[in-house]
Amino acid sequence: MRWLGFYSTEVYHPISMITDSLRDYFRRIGGKKDKRQQKTSLPRIHWKSAIQRKPIVLCELQKADGNVRISELGIICQFARSLKGAEPPQGEGLIFEIGTFDGRTTLNFALNAENYKIVTLDLPSKSQTELRVEPSEKKYIKKHISGERFIKNAARFPESVKKIRQLYGDSAAFDYAEFEGKCDMVFVDGSHSYEYLRKDSETAFRLRSKEGIIIWHDYGVWEGVTRGLEEIERETKIGLKHIAGTSLVVLKR
Ligand SMILES: C[S@@+](CC[C@H](N)C(=O)[O-])C[C@H]1O[C@@H](n2cnc3c(N)ncnc32)[C@H](O)[C@@H]1O
Repeated sequence: MRWLGFYSTEVYHPISMITDSLRDYFRRIGGKKDKRQQKTSLPRIHWKSAIQRKPIVLCELQKADGNVRISELGIICQFARSLKGAEPPQGEGLIFEIGTFDGRTTLNFALNAENYKIVTLDLPSKSQTELRVEPSEKKYIKKHISGERFIKNAARFPESVKKIRQLYGDSAAFDYAEFEGKCDMVFVDGSHSYEYLRKDSETAFRLRSKEGIIIWHDYGVWEGVTRGLEEIERETKIGLKHIAGTSLVVLKR
């Protein structure tokens, strides 16, 4: 598992950056456009300029449609691992995730942020939503079960899985009162529509603690996420940074 952690950020990430650049180069000279990729304008940084690399562990590496990339999983776990309470004997903190899906990110947060409880929220499969969701993301909402990756690993990692609190609801209508101002990390990866990006970002700003960081996924990939994050930066000049070679955007204090 430690090797997989190393592999994700030190092998997979640099190689995927090279192959992405080559693919973009050949597309450009061939006059083709990647319809799934938008132009981005947020300042780009290497993840190592935002945090110091620490040894992390990863499991459930096989990527399903809807999961973050292996390099992104490694990088968000690096952020989780570097939270101030991640190492004993400090106190217990909270990480909040919007968008559980199969629980791959949730489980890996729990493995790497030792003293943190992970709260993860997902939309029940057949619910109506307060705001518009993208038609093409309904396949991630309609599923048999949320969080199956941590559920099936409960016997293998009992201490880590015990720290996960699974919640259900529409992120636009959920009552977050007990978590406000208490989360050292918020991971926003729910609906990708513009309306939800704006609403979930507002929520993330309310949830984060004084030192809290926010990470968004799918910048440059879903139009609503890209537009929403660029608007937030234009309106607030808060210092959002795009992590190079990923679709992650991070806000650090
Ligand atoms: C792309 S998946 C998250 C992937 C996950 N972070 C991973 O890499 O394993 C998006 C998730 O957000 C959930 N979702 C979509 N709209 C939502 C809403 N309005 N409220 C809460 N969750 C929502 C979907 O059900 C889906 O499970």
